[in-house]
Amino acid sequence: MELNMTIDIKYDRPLQMADGIFWVGHRDERFNLACNPYLIVEGDQAVLIDGGSRTDFAIVMMKILQTGVDPQKVAALIYQHYDPDLCGSMSNFIDMCDSPGLKIISEKTNNLFISYYMPRDKYHLLNAIDTQAYTFVWNDRILNFIPTPYAHSPGSFVTYDGKTKTLFSSDLFGSYSTQWELVLDLDDKCFTCRDYDVCPNQRVQCPVKDILFFTGRSCPAPKRCNMLSARSKNWPSTVSPPNMAASSVGKKASLLSSTTWRRWTKSELTPSDF
Ligand SMILES: [Fe+2]
Repeated sequence: MELNMTIDIKYDRPLQMADGIFWVGHRDERFNLACNPYLIVEGDQAVLIDGGSRTDFAIVMMKILQTGVDPQKVAALIYQHYDPDLCGSMSNFIDMCDSPGLKIISEKTNNLFISYYMPRDKYHLLNAIDTQAYTFVWNDRILNFIPTPYAHSPGSFVTYDGKTKTLFSSDLFGSYSTQWELVLDLDDKCFTCRDYDVCPNQRVQCPVKDILFFTGRSCPAPKRCNMLSARSKNWPSTVSPPNMAASSVGKKASLLSSTTWRRWTKSELTPSDF
C-alpha cells in the first residue's frame, strides 16, 4: 500500500501503533525527513521517545495533546542519540512538561552533547541509561535500553518495550528516501532479494536500497555493521520506525514505516536475548 502524506489525512492525528504506543510525528516532504517521536502511555503517565526537531515541536505537541495526555504527566524524555532532528525541541518540551520528577534519559556519552540543547539550570534532569541498569520503569511498565554503539553515534541505543514487544529503533533503519510509508511490511522475498532496482512486489522504489545507502554513510565501520546484523537477527516482532524516511529491519522484525515496522514474525524474546 502506497501512502501519501498529502492526501492521507489520517496522519494529521496521533496514530496508535500498539497498546499505549502512539506515533506523534509528521513528515516534512520538502526535506525527505520524517519526524517519528513515540509516546508511550501507561496509567496516568507517559514517556516520549526522540521528541523531534525545533520546527517539529508545534505539531508533535499538538498530537500529544490529542492523545489526551497532560504534558505535565510526561515522566521522561528519552533520546536515543543526540542528533538535532531528534533533540532540537528538547528545551520546548522541558518547558511544557514541567513536572517535578521529569527525567531526560540518554547515554552518558550522548549527554555531553545533549546538554547543549538545554539551559544550564536544567542539567540536573539528565540521566544516563548506564547508571540505571539500562532500564526505565514507570507504573509497572518496563523499558529496556540496548546499546548500539557507533550506529550511528558512539552512545546510540534502541529501546525495547516488553509489554508490546516493540523495539524503538531510532535511526538504525533510516534513509533519505523520497518514498515514505509509516508502516512498511516486508515479506520473505525482501530478505533474499538483491535486485534493488526492480521490486518483485511491484513497489515503486525498494526501501531496502535506501536503507543500505543511508547505513553505508552513517555507519561505515564493518565491525559495527556486523555486530548490528548479528543482533538484529533476534530482534522482536515489532520495530519502531526510524527517524528518517523508509525503513526495514532485521529478519525477525518487521518494518514500521519510514518508520513504523509492522509485525512480521511473532517471537517471544526477552531483553536478555539481545
Ligand atoms: Fe541520527
